[in-house]
Amino acid sequence: MFVNDCLNINEKGHLTIGGCDTVELAKEYGTPLYVLDETTIRNTCRAYVNSFKKFYNGNGMPLYASKALSCKELCRIANEENLGLDVVSGGEIYTAVQAGFPMEKVHFHGNNKTADEIRFAIKSKVGKFVVDNLYELELLDEIAGEEGITANISFRIKPGVDAHTHNFIRTGQIDSKFGFALETGEAFNAVKKTIKLKNVNIKELHCHIGSQIFDIEPFVTAAEIMIDFIAKIKNELGINIPELNLGGGFGIMYTEKDEPVPYENYMEKVSVAVKEKCSQYGIDVPFIYIEPGRSIVGEAGITLYTVGSKKEIPNIRTYVSVDGGMTDNIRYALYQSDYTVLNASKANQEPNDIVTVAGKCCESGDLIQENTKVADPQAGDILAVLSTGAYNYSMASNYNRIPRPAMVMVKDGQPIVIIKRESYEDLVRNDV
Ligand code: LLP
Repeated sequence: MFVNDCLNINEKGHLTIGGCDTVELAKEYGTPLYVLDETTIRNTCRAYVNSFKKFYNGNGMPLYASKALSCKELCRIANEENLGLDVVSGGEIYTAVQAGFPMEKVHFHGNNKTADEIRFAIKSKVGKFVVDNLYELELLDEIAGEEGITANISFRIKPGVDAHTHNFIRTGQIDSKFGFALETGEAFNAVKKTIKLKNVNIKELHCHIGSQIFDIEPFVTAAEIMIDFIAKIKNELGINIPELNLGGGFGIMYTEKDEPVPYENYMEKVSVAVKEKCSQYGIDVPFIYIEPGRSIVGEAGITLYTVGSKKEIPNIRTYVSVDGGMTDNIRYALYQSDYTVLNASKANQEPNDIVTVAGKCCESGDLIQENTKVADPQAGDILAVLSTGAYNYSMASNYNRIPRPAMVMVKDGQPIVIIKRESYEDLVRNDV
């Protein structure tokens, strides 16, 4: 059976998370229900922070990529654990402001920030703008001038490293909607352009090579390419870029097939490469940021559903329908993502039934997992889908006017609601 650190089975044969009985949680808060384990989240934050202390003289900071799960409680935890924040929209900025997050530790990403978002970010005192394109650079310079500030900026660079699979390639990344290409000279010209601009101050270069990556090598390669570029900028333009942001993408375990690398190993290997390159070039080692999202919250979260109808189609398959689906977890419908599904009510039984777990939406593709092994799922049982902490709630919708589920955080065996369940009233709130 798949069990990560926060999961266990109690004497009733029920799945537990952070010491709480999931069947009891389902009874108390209703289903579908997102449940997060606070200790797991904090431990991962600490592993990243400590990896900078251990391997890079503390000369860096992880930023929590809040697109994985943006809510006030996560912002508060990230702050308490000494992380900064990566945001990609006015809404994520607003969430951070509402949580009292120190905004100077916020990096604002996105390939099409609107003028309103830029103004809102400036008013909210966001620390850094990760500029994606020349249109944005000019717009930001103009708005910063109007607002009477100098904006600290980073440039999003396409380093030519594509690591969306277990293998990685070093070319062919020009076709991406994000950032400036290195090999065409686009990135260099963009940096050159900042010399003429009065209201922006270039402090950092940024790259992000993909998500759910299990290799360390592509991160090391990307870091080396970025240092080469920092050295070129210094030599040819005399501009000193003191900070380097290497993005996120560290892989997590969804099923037993996944083998994540211990998180501190990334900084261990990257530090060696960065220090070596910098000493070759005779330049100062940069302050380094990384931007983990999925790995901070992914494995810490599960989703609980109640089983309803069951449909056996002879010689084809058996559908087991639950009371949620693509509205709370669109990742199978969108990416055919693997998940582990457990019968939380019968967690000590062998998962011998091969079933397709379907959602309740009016959509044939509304599936959570196909042909997966679950222990004797019957109406009324509570099913748990594991590793749903990242990119589930944050990608949820109200399709079919289904309210978004509540989210509960467990800590020291105690659950607290951190996001309330949407009501029918919430659904019509903006209808006129
Ligand atoms: N930094 C940047 C600039 C990013 O674009 C991303 C993710 C991250 C950091 C965080 O990456 P992570 O550590 O979470 O892998 N919806 C997809 C994932 C999209 C990731 C987009 N960017 C999914 O559900 O798998």
